[in-house]
Amino acid sequence: MIDTDNCKQGEQRGQKMEKMKEMENVFVMEHPLIQHKISHIRDINTGTNEFRKCIEEIAMLMGYEALRDLPLEDVEVQTPIEKCMTPRISGKKMAVVPILRAGLGMVNGILALVPSAKVGHIGLYRDPETHEPHEYYCKLPEPIDQRTIVVVDPMLATGGSGSEAVDFIKQHGGKNIKFMCIIAAPEGLKRLHEDHPDIQIYIGHVDRCLNEHAYICPGLGDAGDRIFGTK
Ligand code: PRP
Ligand code: URA
Repeated sequence: MIDTDNCKQGEQRGQKMEKMKEMENVFVMEHPLIQHKISHIRDINTGTNEFRKCIEEIAMLMGYEALRDLPLEDVEVQTPIEKCMTPRISGKKMAVVPILRAGLGMVNGILALVPSAKVGHIGLYRDPETHEPHEYYCKLPEPIDQRTIVVVDPMLATGGSGSEAVDFIKQHGGKNIKFMCIIAAPEGLKRLHEDHPDIQIYIGHVDRCLNEHAYICPGLGDAGDRIFGTK
């Protein structure tokens, strides 16, 4: 149920948001480069090509921060001077899992950082009336229980799609899960965090509220349509 009155309660909303930012396992990225690029994708005049490029760049910048705890292992390397032991990401063990469609736009940003990561897919769409998510596809790389899994979707609105995607991954055995979204509504963040307090949630910006169609305000419109130019 969407509380449209929330849109009018700017001050209270702001206070609530500050609390959410302090929630354990929730990380709001305040880096100026990320904020600058988010402003660009909000703009109705930003065309498909620019929009897509920017989503990918934001995903890469967010990934840089979110993957801070990737495990390292020491390997032996011969430098021009001598042999040494030096750290390397011990990860053929990472999986990026976009929520279709819009999540696809973030995949290459993460792969630019970890090219050896495997890619899973979860297909979900929101029913336009009920706003509830419906699954139409799920394929995850094995062994999923041993991988660091980064679920990507630019938008966290009611939180239904995000929460259900994480449910699927857990049902398939996924344990070490991070969720990365560019814009979140407070409602969606609350739901995802309450349903899955064990996962780390990385957010570019927490917006004001949802409108009566469960779109994020001010948001950026329909992320899938803007990435793929379908409207
Ligand atoms: C959008 C978005 C999220 C979902 C967020 O996808 O990419 O997956 O809505 O909304 P929620 O938090 O209320 O579930 P959409 O269902 O529009 O599908 P699309 O990516 O195929 O356009
Ligand atoms: N999905 C989107 O793409 N945008 C919103 O604002 C909400 C859901």
